[in-house]
Amino acid sequence: MSPAAGHDRFDAIVLGAGAAGLFCAATAAARGRRVLVIDHNVEPGAKIVISGGGRCNFTNIHTAPDRFLSANPHFAKSALGRYTPQDFVALVDRHGIAWHEKTLGQLFCDGSARQIVAMLMRECGDARFALGAPIRAVEHGDGLFRVTAGDGAYAAPALVIATGGPSIPKIGATGFAFALAKQFGLKLVEPRPALVPLTLGADEALFRELAGVAAPVTAMAGKARFSEAALFTHRGLSGPAILQASSYWRPGSAIAIDFVGDRPADWLLAEKQARPRATPRAVLAGLVPQRLADALAARLALGETLAACKDASLRAAEARLRRWSFQPSGSEGYAKAEVTVGGIATAGLSSQTMAARHLPGLYCIGECVDVTGWLGGYNFQWAWASGHAAGLAV
Ligand code: FDA
Repeated sequence: MSPAAGHDRFDAIVLGAGAAGLFCAATAAARGRRVLVIDHNVEPGAKIVISGGGRCNFTNIHTAPDRFLSANPHFAKSALGRYTPQDFVALVDRHGIAWHEKTLGQLFCDGSARQIVAMLMRECGDARFALGAPIRAVEHGDGLFRVTAGDGAYAAPALVIATGGPSIPKIGATGFAFALAKQFGLKLVEPRPALVPLTLGADEALFRELAGVAAPVTAMAGKARFSEAALFTHRGLSGPAILQASSYWRPGSAIAIDFVGDRPADWLLAEKQARPRATPRAVLAGLVPQRLADALAARLALGETLAACKDASLRAAEARLRRWSFQPSGSEGYAKAEVTVGGIATAGLSSQTMAARHLPGLYCIGECVDVTGWLGGYNFQWAWASGHAAGLAV
């Protein structure tokens, strides 16, 4: 009996019909490889459909390796360099999908994220799909990977793990990639939720009383700094600046917020000189919305007017406003996280092909790998680039 008797034979089996898996399948199918894509969801690309508020922020024109978190910051360079945002834009243009730049290099569909899924499915050409097929077992022996999924049994010399990370389980996300990677002897960098709202304990009254207020800030976690909006919620803080900082935040450590931005040093003293009779509330309302200005002014407990404040008090107040430090009680977790930071350790993978170094034929791509992008289209660019790298190799 042949080693794959009873199994449908392919050149490559891709586990996961998400961004990375579809792109890998399309790349391999274009090379004439016989590809099977397996997913337990009935529809492909569930995360693409909900991404970017339904418009899919499909890439970022400022893509560069320093916009990704990884235990090895060099790992992503090769794949990102060989499949660029311009390459993806050219593909989107070839399919006649209208797009626009929103802000900070973020490219979105004018219409719907579903156009990106449809494009990827068209690009997959002759690839076969087993959708709505829970994966029951994955085994390796005699140079073949054997997968039982749904009612089928499949075998191929190449297996691509592209089942993503566990964020947003309600649309089918799981930690399956991590379990499978471990089964095949790959190591993990501890996964944790990222691009996620942070929660605050009862002692952070300043922020909790401000639900609904948004303000331009710089959020800092360690050395990382992000100047964008922060949004105060009933449970804590969100908004792009906070989501970005959350990827760098570790439980138990602090986040700091700069409300003052690029105003010159001793800005409050200059304000005192320029308008001594102004109240601190009024001056702070030049930085942030009035409700937040009121809350900050109350916490800073300054005098009635700037003239009534000692210079030293104003300096101390400014220092606090430039580094308002607090300790989040936690995050909203995988239920609300846009991505998972950490994952399959890159040390076990080739940066050229995404192949496992110790097990020929095994590949890992997309979010399950320990490469996580900033907010703003970077994660899809990693999915396309890593999928492309593996798609050329399988
Ligand atoms: P992805 O999650 O896309 O695909 C994994 C596939 O594997 C899924 O189809 C899943 O059903 C399947 N799967 C999982 N477990 C399985 C199992 N056990 N058996 C079988 N199949 C299984 N990024 C960006 O760049 N721009 C954006 O606009 C957004 N917006 C955004 C919004 C929201 C709400 C979220 C949650 C995330 C984003 N992202 C984003 C992040 C982006 O969606 C994410 O990084 C990519 O989809 C990752 O691509 P992958 O192919 O690696 O995983």
